[in-house]
Order: sequence, then structure tokens, then C-alpha cells
Amino acid sequence: MTVTIVGSQLGDEGKGALVDIWGGDADVVVRYQGGDNAGHTVVRDGNEYKLSLVPSGAVRGKVGILGNGCVVNPETLFDELDTLREKGLDPDVRIARRAHAILPYHRVLDGIEEEVKSDSDLAAGTTKRGIGPTYEDKAGRRGIRIGDMLDPEVLRDRLEYVVPQKRDLAEEIYGLDIANSEHADAFDVDALFETYNEYGRRFREESMTVNCGDFLGNRLDDGDELLFEGAQGTSIDIDHGIYPYVTSSNPTAGGAAVGTGVGPTVIGQGEVVGIVKAYLSRVGTGPLPTELDGNETEEELADFIREKGGEFGTVTGRPRRIGWLDIPMLRHAARANGFTGIAVNHIDVLAGLDEVKVGHAYELDGEEIETMPATTERWGDCEPVLKSFEPWPEVDWAAVAEEGYEAIPANAREYLEYVSREVGAPIYAIGVGPGREETVVRANPFDSQ
Ligand code: IMP
Repeated sequence: MTVTIVGSQLGDEGKGALVDIWGGDADVVVRYQGGDNAGHTVVRDGNEYKLSLVPSGAVRGKVGILGNGCVVNPETLFDELDTLREKGLDPDVRIARRAHAILPYHRVLDGIEEEVKSDSDLAAGTTKRGIGPTYEDKAGRRGIRIGDMLDPEVLRDRLEYVVPQKRDLAEEIYGLDIANSEHADAFDVDALFETYNEYGRRFREESMTVNCGDFLGNRLDDGDELLFEGAQGTSIDIDHGIYPYVTSSNPTAGGAAVGTGVGPTVIGQGEVVGIVKAYLSRVGTGPLPTELDGNETEEELADFIREKGGEFGTVTGRPRRIGWLDIPMLRHAARANGFTGIAVNHIDVLAGLDEVKVGHAYELDGEEIETMPATTERWGDCEPVLKSFEPWPEVDWAAVAEEGYEAIPANAREYLEYVSREVGAPIYAIGVGPGREETVVRANPFDSQ
């Protein structure tokens, strides 16, 4: 059966901890979208591994799959695999032949376009990993897939078609002097062919590529459990998020079907678990109605939460913006994903405050609304209708994790039960500290099927 783990907010909800915990019961852990924009930290046997592409399950001895919906930078992939191997692990990672490859020019163009947009308010604050430009080429039918890299002739043909276009774009539109820049090789067919043909050889020799849908279908037929590991979050989904301040893929649960070749009816029979952070954090740009930035007191509160929650980008190290939990955002996520359960992380971070608030609804044009408007401009016009909760004290969270749900301070439980009611899904787990063991697990989605 399948369990799909999805970010309910803006990414960085702490999905990795739950993937770690429930992934123990899975045989295969599958990423279905995104690429090396997704920072996750995996802890195993006391060692910490910072990964951005390799599925975290691969560190725990599971088969890790990068589905066709992913965009794969082979350089990052092999760097991460080599580092894991140097540390004595033997990760088994397979890549969908239908997944698209990120090429060096994608990264360069991502950086240039963000730079150009920085004069307006359109910059998404991307990770500059070339994610958007690679998905653009996929949709434009000029991308290079992992399967293309297995055949030198196909690879060369594809490069010869696309690279001159990229050169023109960089030079004619963006005014980059390629020859005299550090990026000359990124736009050179021969240099790209040499590098990517070598990656292709490694893919072939290490038998790393699969026909993803077939591979996963066979594993399901054999009775294996699959865990789909969403990266980023619902509100930065290209369709359901706060466009254009979004990533270029579908982190929502539907992406798990499209991005792997496992049918939606199969995924729909499984569990879809939304991961919620007890407040909001955001690395990118764009509006954020519940943001704590209105006055000095709010900014101090944001600083406190940022430090306590370690809210700095895993991939980029950028300090994250902080806000109160946004319930309309969660209602939207519950609908778009069809959550069968949720996990709420970081409730310990809010302990010891004078007052805890949530954005319960929005006020827009004098009316109260309960879900997110479909345009980001309208979302930016929303004023949060805040609801206050009695605060909860700082306690020994490690002891709470051991004792279970009833040991969570009563006011925090009230907060959790409110969230559960609003999204219409039960709480499967509560994160009460940064470590994996500091999680109160109430249900295992693999058991509830
Ligand atoms: P991109 O995915 O690098 O194109 O960035 C697009 C937007 O998604 C930016 O606002 C990024 O900050 C955001 N983003 C991308 N990956 C993550 C992530 O793993 N966590 C949180 N935000 C992300």
C-alpha cells in the first residue's frame, strides 16, 4: 500500500522526521517532484546527513526512487551518493528514465532571471538550482531526460538542438557575454556532451535507471509498501500555490501519481498525510498575511521563533520569515490534497510565549473568508482574523515524547485539536523537539490501511 507525505504550507514543515519514522515500515521511498532545491537532514546512528536530492529513505537502507516528476542534477546526485558511500553507507537509489536532467545552463539562467526580476516584485527568491528553467524545458519539449543520457547519440542530438537556443537567450535577451564569463562551458555543446555522457555511462554501469511506473507497480504487486515523499509544500505548488512565488512542480498529492506513474486510484486507496508546522516559515518572497513583522514586538517574537526553531534555509542558509499559523492555508491544503491525517510539528517552539495566535480566517473587502483566494494579489490584500490561545509552558519535551499525547500540556492539546477540527483530519503525530525521537506518534498510516 502507499502513504503519501505532503507539506501543508510553504515547505520546511519538518516532513523528514515523519518520513524517517514511518519510512521504517516502507520498502521503497519515492520522491515525485522537485530536485536539489529540497534540503532535508537525515539522522542515522547518531550521524547527520544533509541531503537535497537523494530520498531520505535511502540513508535508512530502503530503495530510494527519484520519480519522473523530479528534475535531477546528476552532479548533486553523484556528490551526495559519493559522500554517503565515503561514510560507509550503501544507498540504493534509482532514477526514472523519464525524469528530466538539470543542466548547467539551467542554473545560470535561474540566477539571471531572478536577478532581472529583482527590479520588480516578481522574484520568487528561488534556490538558484535551475529548477524552474528545467521544468520550462520539459513543458517546452526541449528538455533532456535521464533516459536520453543513456544513449550518446540521442544526448548529442538533444544538446545540439537546445544549446544554441540557450546561448541566444543568455546573450541576446539577457546580455551575458558567455565567452568572457565563468559560464562558457555551461553553454558549450562539446563540454556538456562530455560531462553528461560520462554521467550517462555511470547511470548505465551502475544500473541506476528504471522505468518508474513499472518498477513501482511490480513492487506493489509483490506486496511492498511505498512511501511517497513530497518536497516543498502545497502553498508553493505551481498550480495550487501562491503563484508566481512558487516552485515549478506539484508538491500536492496528485503530483505523486503524475510524478511516478502509479495511478491516482492506487494512491487514493492509501493514506495522504499533511505535515503542518505549528507556525509559518517562509524562505521566499511574496505576501504572507500572518507574518510577524508589523512592529518591534512582532519582530522580536519572530526572531525568538526563528532562533528557537532553527528557521534558516537548509539549502541556502537564508533566515526564514515567520508568521502565525494560517488556517485558511491549511483548509486549502486539506482540500487540494485530501488529507487522511496530519502531523503537527514544532509545538515546543511556541512554548513559553505570552499568547499564541493563529490566523483563523481572512478579512477581504469587509467580508470574512475561510480559504485562500485564488490570486496572490488578493491573498496579499487579506488581513488575518486572529484567534488567541492560552499559552503553554516550556516542559521536558523528551519526557513528553516518551509518555505520549496526554503528557502534552493541555493548552497545546487544545491548539492541536482545533487544528485537527479545522482541517477535518486526525492527528497522527506531534513533533515536540528537533530530534526524531522527540515525536509523539499516535498512529502509523501504514497500519491504518
Ligand atoms: P525554486 O524551487 O528553487 O525554483 O524556488 C521557488 C520558490 O520555492 C522559492 O520561493 C523558494 O524559496 C521555494 N522553495 C524551493 N524549495 C524549497 C524548500 O525545500 N523549502 C521551502 N521553500 C522552497
